This record gives sequence, C-alpha cells and structure tokens, in this order.
Amino acid sequence: MQTDKKTLFSAAQPSGLVTLGNYLGAIKNWVALQDEYNCIYSIADLHCLTVRREPKELRAKSLELLALYIACGVDPEKSCLFLQSHVPAHAELTWILNTLTYPGELSRMTQFKDKSLKHADNVNMGLMDYPVLMAADILLYGAEVVPIGVDQKQHLEITRDLAIRFNNRYSETFVVPEPIIPKVGAKIMSLQDPAHKMSKSDPNENSYIAILDDEDTVIRKFKRAVTDSDNSIAFSDDKPGISNLLTIYSAITGETIAAAEERFAGKGYGEFKIAVGEVVASALAPIRKRTAELLSDKAYLDEIMKKGAEQASYFANKTLSKVYRKVGLYSPERKK
Ligand code: TRP
Repeated sequence: MQTDKKTLFSAAQPSGLVTLGNYLGAIKNWVALQDEYNCIYSIADLHCLTVRREPKELRAKSLELLALYIACGVDPEKSCLFLQSHVPAHAELTWILNTLTYPGELSRMTQFKDKSLKHADNVNMGLMDYPVLMAADILLYGAEVVPIGVDQKQHLEITRDLAIRFNNRYSETFVVPEPIIPKVGAKIMSLQDPAHKMSKSDPNENSYIAILDDEDTVIRKFKRAVTDSDNSIAFSDDKPGISNLLTIYSAITGETIAAAEERFAGKGYGEFKIAVGEVVASALAPIRKRTAELLSDKAYLDEIMKKGAEQASYFANKTLSKVYRKVGLYSPERKK
C-alpha cells in the first residue's frame, strides 16, 4: 500500500440482499475511490451480531458480500479487503473506547432508538455499543476519510468525539476522521413508492432491484415501476418516479440527467422504463456472473480473506499497541 495517499476506511454489514441502491450509492463509490485513497474495506460481520441472525446464513452472506465486492471492482491487490471478525483488534479497541463512552450518548443515537423499537425483544448491549465498534473500526487505521450513507453520520460524529476525547485524555493518538457522503446516486428510491428509499426489507419485491437479480427479473421490475399520469420524461420534484428512473439511468450510464432527458424526449414511459431496465440489466449481468464464479472458488476467497486480515492486522495492531501503552496497560508488545 502506498503511503502518499490519504487513508480511507469503510465497511458494510453482510446483512442480506444487496440492492441497486447499495450498488449505486455505496459500492460503485468504493470502487471509484480506490485510485485516490489508500482504501481499507471491511465486511462488518461483528456488527451483524447485534440483531438476531441465522448463523449459517450470516456465514454465507459474509462470503457472498466479499465475492460481490470483488465482482463489482474492489481490487484486493489495490485495497485491503477483510472480514472484521478476522482482526481481533476491532473488539479489543472497542473495549478501551467503551471506558470513555457514556451510556447516555449511546442511548440517544437515532439508529439505536429505531432498532430498539424494531427488535424490542432483543435490545442487547451490542446494539447499544454498535457505534463504539464502528469508531474502533475507523480509528484503528488512522483513516482520514470515511465514505458513509447519511444514516451513519451520527455514528461518525461519535467516532470523532471519541477520538478527540481520547487524544485529550491521553495525548495525541487518533486521527479525527471526516465523513464523505456521496452526492450523486446516493439515494435511489423504491420503484413502487418513490417517496421512500429503495430497501431490501420492503415486502414488495418489485420495489427493489437486487444486484443478483437476473436480466428478466430486472426488466420486469422496471416495467412495473410506478410513474405518474403525465407523459414527459423530465426530472422534477413532482415527478418522483420518473426522476428516480432518470437518476438510475444517469448513475449507470454516466450520462448527465439533462442528456438523458434529451435522449428520451418525446418517448413514452413504457419505452423509457424498458430502456432503464436494459441498461441496469446489462450492467448487473457481469457482476452476477463473476460473483457466482468467485463463490465457486472458495480456496481463492479464503486466500483473499487471509491476506486482507494479515494486512489489516498489521496496521490495527500498531495502533492498538500504542493505545494500550497510553492507557497504562503493561507490556503491550504485540506480535504481528
Ligand atoms: N454501520 C455501517 C452501516 O451499516 C457499516 C460500518 C461498520 C461502517 N463499521 C463501519 C461504515 C466503519 C463506515 C465505517 O452502513
């Protein structure tokens, strides 16, 4: 890894289906950032345990997400790609940071409050501590920048608070990270209800495109996309369905919204929806194929995971041993 570039950290939970919204909002961005930054990308499997999961499924999803990221263009030669649970320093730093964190600030987190309502029968300490584990993820690597979705902004703020708090109490140790929240394509809306974000947990499967949906399914779902009773293909607040389709088209093809509007001027909604479906289907087809190939080569994936964990551990353990020393733990000479 080159050191003249800034370090960037991001992670995603292997929590199920990956949608077109995730692809355009986050994954494509991860891929694009690889040249500009020293990228460290993690599959946050420990975070996943904060809600109840089927163990077998969690394992399968972790592997699938790893394959999917590689298939989308995250290059394990360029970036460090690893499973969070493979680097024990994440859990270890979480413990230290916990001693600087107050229950009040965690119980006030929007996501904790939302998830506590949603999983009322399982409001566990991990769910509450989720942002501290996230802070440990980021701070271990001295990451200067962290690409996140808007829903994670509060967690990045507490990460910054904890870094500053630690630095003030024990002397300068952590880099205080900055969020980067992508503007373009950050928010893809539901195909059935464009007032809401595209979500894999929507019970209506027609509302989202899964990145591994086959071509026919993709086109069928776009054909059924909700639009409006007007007939002009224009981006506008009062045309959320058409605007969402234009956003998707533009994000996939790289064409500006204005150019896309011009391209489809005078065309009918039916034709436009099929055209969007086709560009999406042909962008996703090679990803689906590559993911399947990778998943059939477990030895290769194991190797990538092992290499990623070794690389990540090297950096993480350096930070952790500094932290151990600063807080007064004895003999923190850690083996690499
Ligand atoms: N909580 C993030 C999400 O659900 C995933 C995540 C875990 C993360 N650790 C992180 C994101 C560190 C950025 C940095 O989207």
